[in-house]
Amino acid sequence: MSRQLSLAEVFQLGYYWETKILLTAVKLDVFSAVDTRPKSAQELAERVGADASMLGILLNALVAMKLLTKDGELFGNSSTALTHLVRHSTQYVGHLLLLHDAEWNNWGRLEETIRTGRRMVDRHVFETDPELGSNVLAVLNRIGQQSGPDLARRLNLMGKERILDLGGGAGTNTIAFCHVYPELVATVFDLPATLRLTEKTVKEAGLESRIRLLSGDFNSDPLGGPYDLVLMSDILHYQTFQMNRQVVGKVFASLASGGRLVIKDRFLEESGAGPAWTTAFAVHILVNTQHGGCYRASDAMQWMTDAGFVSVTELEKTAVVQGVKP
Ligand SMILES: C[S@@+](CC[C@H](N)C(=O)[O-])C[C@H]1O[C@@H](n2cnc3c(N)ncnc32)[C@H](O)[C@@H]1O
Repeated sequence: MSRQLSLAEVFQLGYYWETKILLTAVKLDVFSAVDTRPKSAQELAERVGADASMLGILLNALVAMKLLTKDGELFGNSSTALTHLVRHSTQYVGHLLLLHDAEWNNWGRLEETIRTGRRMVDRHVFETDPELGSNVLAVLNRIGQQSGPDLARRLNLMGKERILDLGGGAGTNTIAFCHVYPELVATVFDLPATLRLTEKTVKEAGLESRIRLLSGDFNSDPLGGPYDLVLMSDILHYQTFQMNRQVVGKVFASLASGGRLVIKDRFLEESGAGPAWTTAFAVHILVNTQHGGCYRASDAMQWMTDAGFVSVTELEKTAVVQGVKP
């Protein structure tokens, strides 16, 4: 039997003050204003456009949270803040936190969503603010670079395949796959706004001759082909069950005979009550998307079987599903 929560842990779960303090500091860009030279609340207030005494209260809390340091009246950045929360740092992750902040009001409507059964947003923040969406993808690309090569090796490719990375984003997986298999050629298919970022990452990786960019909406535009392998990584949860079913059918048509589809996602366990992170992610999707959802591996396997795939298997529990076109 799993361990019971203590009362302290229950209180901790209900405590979000520090979350909003951090998000607000990133929104005000306090850490960039501090940069490498400690400054007073007065000077920082002038730089970020804020009230000095109110900002001082926030700054003190950030000191207690170990994001800032304080020496007399001067606030400095901790080394973590300097590395990850100052905008000009190459390891800045603030865009991801800005995304959470942009979704804050949607979370405030969680009760209403659950009571009425109605979604409260009609467009996802990636659609209302494509620049933020692209910046978030750039951060995810940087922090996701470790997992791509591992996935490439686990899929045991021959090495010469033609790959389609559907909704490939910044090209994180495709670039990793091309590094692991030097003869592989790939197509990254994504929305035009996203491909502007992909163009940069592919160029930085020096892979322009092996990675082609194909712009479009995978629900309505042709996918090209034939391909030997199609990868759908983390693209299902903004869509309905039916939309995903249709896309999997389209992918089937774009594959060569013997080709395979690999779907990598955050699937829920069959019970729906795990993995823990994914259960909370499902609530996030509920409040922040018009009709998205978190699905089970069995759903993806059903879409594949309906489309005509054979040897449909869950390669990695709640993470990777594969099917082969006969
Ligand atoms: C969470 S990102 C995943 C990116 C990448 N596959 C990965 O695993 O790193 C979702 C991607 O799907 C793309 N996308 C969403 N809806 C799309 C659509 N209808 N047509 C094409 N791309 C779409 C987004 O632009 C974004 O790049």
